[in-house]
Amino acid sequence: MYRTKTCGELRLANAGERVTLAGWVQRTRKMGGMTFVDLRDRYGITQLVFNEERDAALCEQANRLGREYVVQVTGVVGERSNKNAKMETGDIEILAETLTVLNVSATPPFTIEDNTDGGDDLRMKYRYLDLRRTAVRGNLELRHKMAFEVRRYLDGQGFLEVETPVLVNSTPEGARDFVVPSRMNPGQFYALPQSPQTLKQLLMVSGFDRYFQIVKCFRDEDLRADRQPEFTQVDCEMSFVEQEDILQMFEGMIRHLFKTILGLELAPLPRMTWADAMKYYGSDKPDTRFGMRFVELMDVLKGYGFSVFDSAAYIGGICAKGAATYTRKQIDQLTEYVKRPQIGAKGMVYARVEADGTVKSSVDKFYTQEVLQQLKAAFAAEPGDLILILSGDDAMKTRKQLNELRLYVGEQLGLRPRDKFSCLWVIDFPMYEWSDEEQRLMAMHHPFTSPKPEDIPLLDTDPAAVRANAYDMVINGVEVGGGSIRIHDAQLQQKIFEILGFTPEQAQTKFGFLMNAFKFGAPPHGGLAYGLDRLVSLFAGLDSIRDCIAFPKNNQGRDVMLGAPGALDPIQFDELQIKVDLKKG
Ligand code: AMO
Repeated sequence: MYRTKTCGELRLANAGERVTLAGWVQRTRKMGGMTFVDLRDRYGITQLVFNEERDAALCEQANRLGREYVVQVTGVVGERSNKNAKMETGDIEILAETLTVLNVSATPPFTIEDNTDGGDDLRMKYRYLDLRRTAVRGNLELRHKMAFEVRRYLDGQGFLEVETPVLVNSTPEGARDFVVPSRMNPGQFYALPQSPQTLKQLLMVSGFDRYFQIVKCFRDEDLRADRQPEFTQVDCEMSFVEQEDILQMFEGMIRHLFKTILGLELAPLPRMTWADAMKYYGSDKPDTRFGMRFVELMDVLKGYGFSVFDSAAYIGGICAKGAATYTRKQIDQLTEYVKRPQIGAKGMVYARVEADGTVKSSVDKFYTQEVLQQLKAAFAAEPGDLILILSGDDAMKTRKQLNELRLYVGEQLGLRPRDKFSCLWVIDFPMYEWSDEEQRLMAMHHPFTSPKPEDIPLLDTDPAAVRANAYDMVINGVEVGGGSIRIHDAQLQQKIFEILGFTPEQAQTKFGFLMNAFKFGAPPHGGLAYGLDRLVSLFAGLDSIRDCIAFPKNNQGRDVMLGAPGALDPIQFDELQIKVDLKKG
């Protein structure tokens, strides 16, 4: 037997027991005639003590241990004279009697402790060593628990986990596909699924009624802190349901996770229409941990000779409570922030509410105190508050800029703590959004999403105004999940494809399998998918989903540890009958 106990379980109650532990040497310290070794495994760290007086040879052996050596030790559990309240095993130590080196280790490239000296790149290259660190391992333990609770909840609700293939063809979720050439079908390619969307709908046609899958999805898109090229969805679909059934079922799942993982009882989730989310927060994923809702100011500030506002299609602002103490320098810094090319505002106007209730603004010369008081009233602002205003000639763009400002100021004011959670449903998304790039309407969710029945007549007259039975769940400004009620009528589906610009032939080639299936008794159905990585990173309070993925890709989509993606052997191209002109440099 390699060990009788782990490095995380011994307590004072075990004093006097003879135990055998195995693990990695985190560090050794020699103090006089004593040598202390911190021994680490997945479960914790236990201190070993070697006493020169008792056994000089053994102590000498301990002195020669290097960091990350793998050792086995037998000894007696003793009470520590110098207890460490920060460690779970901090009351005890092992008085070592035998020591076996199971394996030596090269000196690790960074220290494997909570506060490591390793930079990001180095830790990614040696990810297997980074995973030895408690914090990183803890994120994966949390991920395991969450996936387990997801399965427990969905199993309890009668969902069946069904695996769908990874070698499929293109699925239209709006990103680029990763493709895989087929050796047996030269010139033809599989695509990796962006999601199992069409397959889960086919499972509904098959009568599976309630499906789920914890599944890898692949999207070749620009990467960000909350996006990886391969990520994991909790993908779900149900038959004979309306939107309300889906919202209830999956709100239940989130409630179950908060309760079992974090011990928090969630109140019923608020619902906000997409139109309101855009109007009051300038985002379809509003961070509702704090207020600072937008106030539209066209009626208040237009028409006083300030040309920037007079010519604007939208003027709106936020009120930062208690921020009137911001210095000129801090305000200039906010202006610089919104003027950065990524945000693109032309400038920012501010107004302070003074202690006596008067309002001082950066555009005082255009506005009388009377108008500024109306401005104050529009926000119900109080002395000490700071009002920040943006305007622009495109209302939607300006709202998005104001959203960035709101989030930035909220962060500065400490209104976005990671241990506070604010969840909501955003509902009634538009069916379509205009794509400047493609010069056509695109499906906002995906082409299988059902329009709201009352908006169906608008499909012929004003498709851009049609709302969908589509919903997202948002937590702390992060879209953690989304879905929709699907179209189950082949004719309506055909019409939606037409509006999206597919000819009947193109629709048939791409989605014929689905439309054919719908001819054989498709039940009304709908579903949603949660992003598991995003959920875990929110629960763990992480900045990036990378930290809860065992082997993530970097921002260039590379796995620097594996060296992927990499070149292929020319023989492989021959086998695939692919001619490649690999231009160097
Ligand atoms: P959607 O595209 O909204 O819907 O994806 C569902 C959820 O998956 C997560 N997600 C991501 N997480 C990490 N990295 C990415 N690149 C990434 N892309 C998406 C998000 C998102 O809310 N088939 C539909 C679902 C349905 O209609 O049932 C779908 O895939 O948390």
